[in-house]
Amino acid sequence: MSGTWSPDSWRGKPIKQVPSYPDAARVTAVEKELSGYPTLVFAGEAQRLKSSLGRVAKGEAFLLQGGDCAESFAEFSPNNIRDTFRVLLQMAVVLTFGAGMPIVKVGRLAGQFAKPRSSDVETIDGVELPSYRGDMVNGIDFTETDRVPDPDRLLKVYNQSASTLNLLRAFAQGGFANLEQIHRWTLSFVENSPQGARFENVVSRIDEALEFMRACGITAENNQQLRETEFYTSHEALLLGYEQSLTRKDTITEHGGWYNTAAHMLWVGDRTRQLDGAHVEYLRGVSNPIGMKCGPSLETDDMLRLIDVLNPQNEPGRLTMIVRVGAGEVDKHLPRFIRAVEREGKNVVWSCDPMHGNTIKATSGYKTRPFDRILGEVKEFFEVHQAEGTHAGGVHFELTGQDVTECIGGAQAITDDALADRYHTHCDPRLNASQSLELAFLIADMMKQSRVNGGTASMAAAS
Ligand code: PEP
Ligand code: CO
Repeated sequence: MSGTWSPDSWRGKPIKQVPSYPDAARVTAVEKELSGYPTLVFAGEAQRLKSSLGRVAKGEAFLLQGGDCAESFAEFSPNNIRDTFRVLLQMAVVLTFGAGMPIVKVGRLAGQFAKPRSSDVETIDGVELPSYRGDMVNGIDFTETDRVPDPDRLLKVYNQSASTLNLLRAFAQGGFANLEQIHRWTLSFVENSPQGARFENVVSRIDEALEFMRACGITAENNQQLRETEFYTSHEALLLGYEQSLTRKDTITEHGGWYNTAAHMLWVGDRTRQLDGAHVEYLRGVSNPIGMKCGPSLETDDMLRLIDVLNPQNEPGRLTMIVRVGAGEVDKHLPRFIRAVEREGKNVVWSCDPMHGNTIKATSGYKTRPFDRILGEVKEFFEVHQAEGTHAGGVHFELTGQDVTECIGGAQAITDDALADRYHTHCDPRLNASQSLELAFLIADMMKQSRVNGGTASMAAAS
């Protein structure tokens, strides 16, 4: 990959996952309109996230990235945004305790509306229609009208992203993210969880730490760090016309350069990370922090070439490798990834996505993910990093603050039969609030245990 980059240079490259819009002129008109809209994020914020991720790359911080598989127009409500934000904050507090280091918080929110699909069409009872590609492209109902790609949806995505981000900013800075308040929510979760007793130790130690700080005169009233939080947004850069429209030259900070201003961080999916493809071409030229999904089909040599293209300056924090190989498979792939990166002296953040390699079809017919396999992949990820002497830098989850029944297992012991009760996802199955927090406790336990044992412990604590 070489040549001059421009926000539209991707248009000259082979591209995958493109919707077939019946009205191409309307697509161009919408993109033109979007290119005159205000930016959603500011370049300085993306730079700040990059430097926080730089600390993750150096082993001094930990990344928590999570949110919807696919945001939707139907699930858009202040309560949903609030509840997903709250569970991420609760997880972050628990993980801070486990890791003993700052947690960098990044939502799959305020822009995560487009989905790559394994097939362009879906067939039900002999009827073939275009696949649903996320609310950014078409509607989810299996009807001819719904499935036609509609460019005006891009404008709705922009507007929904803007109001979601606005609320997130208000929550992050307006008092909602107060550490003492988050801790009180977690206390009540532990009191009501069937597995609560397992987490009491962690909760009471956080309690003690807060009490100690209060005794020293450090409270949310007088300390901004306890009262506010930094929260960033991210999504998969899939619909490049939309991304291009929100790509702007930074004229304010001293760094200069082009930024995608639709989100702080963008990632390239496992299906669109071709070295000579349009998605990699687009992402190489924007200065935001970038993620790359690393599935089992990623060859080690290709991975190194992609790292060179996406992070030619070897800048720590620029590139996050989001490994998603599936429980039981981590041993086969992660060591070859890590060893190549170490051998070549590349600076990356290693993050674990234990969702996308663990999707199964339940007997009931629903797509689901077993809680134990999700936890299992995270455990294997930590174990491999421990063995290789590298930093297990982060985790990447599909989750919601709602009490859905999409993933089986966890302390609530959601069964296959119960999946139908509250299965609301527009794409992949998400962890619900209780499963998400439970997972955070189990991961914190693992991290704590390995720190106590000087980094050589087995991960037995979380089994
Ligand atoms: C996703 O993160 O929703 C996704 C589609 O992931 P992947 O590209 O890893 O399959
Ligand atoms: Co998904």
